Amino acid sequence: MSQIEKSLVVFKPDAVSRGVVGEILSRFEKRGLKIIGMKMLKPDREFFYQHYETIGKMISRRGEESFNDNLHYMQLSPVIALVVEGIDVVKIIRQMVWPTMPQDALSGTIRGDYAQTTREYSNPLHRPLFNLVHASGNAEEAEQEIAHWFQPEELFDYERADQAFIY
Ligand code: CDP
Ligand code: MG
Repeated sequence: MSQIEKSLVVFKPDAVSRGVVGEILSRFEKRGLKIIGMKMLKPDREFFYQHYETIGKMISRRGEESFNDNLHYMQLSPVIALVVEGIDVVKIIRQMVWPTMPQDALSGTIRGDYAQTTREYSNPLHRPLFNLVHASGNAEEAEQEIAHWFQPEELFDYERADQAFIY
């Protein structure tokens, strides 16, 4: 059933360093999605272990080396994390970002419009798979990720002025 839910988005170091955070953020705003929390931070290894392994099962899925490569990528600069609210927002944001590999991403998606590398190029060289944003994969992942990245008092309840014309 469709419902108002929340998702975590993280602007990765390539988005921050390339100065495209504002452009990408405006896509979410224009879609009618509501930003209910946002901050810049530079998480340590333990924080990313919780995010990518405890919640995301990256080491179980792809091995320790993948995690270390990704950790290096995620620590190249600060990141910007936000919580976004909307109807079926987890799925909507995945559609806007999707898919993981920039080489498979169609124009119109964030990775399709802003990313260029491929897994075959970056993985063997242990280079970052620059793909600009993290977005929660499903509702359960979103709930765990939001609790990991944000304190309850860092999230806000307010009405967008155009909300009556969106919901
Ligand atoms: O980010 P997404 O949920 O689409 O993909 P994931 O499977 O949860 O992987 C997390 C991140 O690991 C990706 O966004 C890539 O930055 C990185 N990755 C990689 O470097 N090499 C791969 N073969 C797969 C993912
Ligand atoms: Mg994921």
